[in-house]
Amino acid sequence: MKILSPSLLSIDFVNMKSQIDILKEEGITHLHLDVMDGMYVPSISFGMPVIKSLRKYTDMFFDVHMMVEDPDRYVEDMKECGADMITVHIEASKHLDRTINHIKSLGIKAGVVLNPATPLSDLEYILQEVDMVLLMSVNPGFGGQKYIPYITQKIKDLAKIRKERNLDFDIQVDGGVNLDTIQMVINAGADNVVAGSAVFNGDIRDNIRKLRKFL
Ligand code: DX5
Ligand code: ZN
Repeated sequence: MKILSPSLLSIDFVNMKSQIDILKEEGITHLHLDVMDGMYVPSISFGMPVIKSLRKYTDMFFDVHMMVEDPDRYVEDMKECGADMITVHIEASKHLDRTINHIKSLGIKAGVVLNPATPLSDLEYILQEVDMVLLMSVNPGFGGQKYIPYITQKIKDLAKIRKERNLDFDIQVDGGVNLDTIQMVINAGADNVVAGSAVFNGDIRDNIRKLRKFL
């Protein structure tokens, strides 16, 4: 089953409750939470208090995408706020193996994120340890950017490696996924697609129904 993970970054924060209700009614089970620190990426988004409040309201699967320097510092906090999975950038982690094992030791899932230009070869030894690999298809930091075309080949290459090595991590793709690009991303081998602006800009129900057809 392919998963559509709406990104909270594009929600209308004043109407968060009613928009979450719409997601639930449309059968959405996973929410992608983009945490940005203004250091690793230029922008600042939201953090623990927002995630904690949301956790009280919904039982959706929370996948927390940490766009922060040295994410190891916040692993416990995120788990306490209700994260079901934490994904950390390979480029922002000082000791990636330690952080991945730190996350898993808390009984939640762990994923690693690669920026567009970071080669798959950097994953060689950690691949067997992770539950998910997130391939960024834009440079992280903002919603509403354009999908970078060379990522399609990267998804295919990662799916091939997974098959050859008989591993079972999920492949998530994040950035610029919309009605024009989702088919390509799914065909290339993605299991989980993140969509921010393509879900929340305009009619949310209609957007989800249209995107879902490709899953
Ligand atoms: C970008 C974030 C994405 C973002 C995607 O740094 O990681 O999750 O919300 O937004 P869209 O789908 O609009 O490209
Ligand atoms: Zn994200």
